[in-house]
Amino acid sequence: MRISGSTVLITGATGGIGQTLARTFAARGASLVLTGRRGEVLRPLAESLGARAITADLSDRAEVARLAEKAADTDILIANAALPSSGEVLDYSTEELDRALEVNLRAPIALARLLAPRMVRDRRGHIVMIGSISGRAASPGASLYNASKFGLRGFTLGLRQDLHGTGVGVSIVQPGFVRDAGMFADAGVEVPAGVRTVSPRQVAMATVRAVEANRAEVNIAPLELRLGSAVGSLFPSLAESLQRRLVADLTLRRLVEGQRSKR
Ligand SMILES: NC(=O)c1ccc[n+]([C@@H]2O[C@H](COP(=O)([O-])OP(=O)(O)OC[C@H]3O[C@@H](n4cnc5c(N)ncnc54)[C@H](OP(=O)(O)O)[C@@H]3O)[C@@H](O)[C@H]2O)c1
Repeated sequence: MRISGSTVLITGATGGIGQTLARTFAARGASLVLTGRRGEVLRPLAESLGARAITADLSDRAEVARLAEKAADTDILIANAALPSSGEVLDYSTEELDRALEVNLRAPIALARLLAPRMVRDRRGHIVMIGSISGRAASPGASLYNASKFGLRGFTLGLRQDLHGTGVGVSIVQPGFVRDAGMFADAGVEVPAGVRTVSPRQVAMATVRAVEANRAEVNIAPLELRLGSAVGSLFPSLAESLQRRLVADLTLRRLVEGQRSKR
């Protein structure tokens, strides 16, 4: 799928990775539609890139539908918005739990459902879901995030098969820990020992590759995380005992506290 000249809708454009996605796709000649909740961050970003800005709260189903109507000319959807939803689920109110699932899972599925018919009619389009390595293997203190990212991966790969031959591609991009900006960097904790990070720019370039080459799944993480998550998905009991030894309690507690304000 050619990016230049395409209308690209990016959710979570105000976030760490979203801003880099926006700049990267703008530099490739896309016409951008950017969305997020924080208008004060969204509007100047959109202005600097000659983009359209639509504020929307993706935890609200009516706002998801309104966004899809306003961005009905989307050729490429990049569903990037998410909440970190870290911490034990027993520490979540039902309202927080619902919000995590609405934003991370239901909104990307609904946007794909609402925007794909026009793409199919034009025999031209692409849908990219920004998942996570946490969509391949579970880890402690991440059951809700794991649920949403496993679900997103399943939906993406299934939808890709349903849309095969229609001219509409579907991909999932799954980053590992991202440095410098975004929900992990914002929490201000050290990465677990021996684990390397990727940059927002690497995630954006992986997204470009996913669209241009219609890749099913792009895992943008260092080798140890790609291998670890592959083993973890095949052998969950082994992964669980290894993680219990390797993931320091203190780091995990700091991460959960650092992300609590984003529930
Ligand atoms: N950072 C990492 O290490 C990492 C690793 C793997 C995967 N990822 C994935 O990368 C994607 C981007 O994450 P990030 O690191 O850039 O996080 P971030 O900086 O926290 O940004 C999250 C984005 O989601 C938007 N958002 C949150 N709740 C929303 C709501 N109710 N309605 C509308 N928008 C909402 C935020 O917009 P407002 O605040 O303006 O509402 C913000 O733009 C996510 O899918 C994440 O799971 C990140």
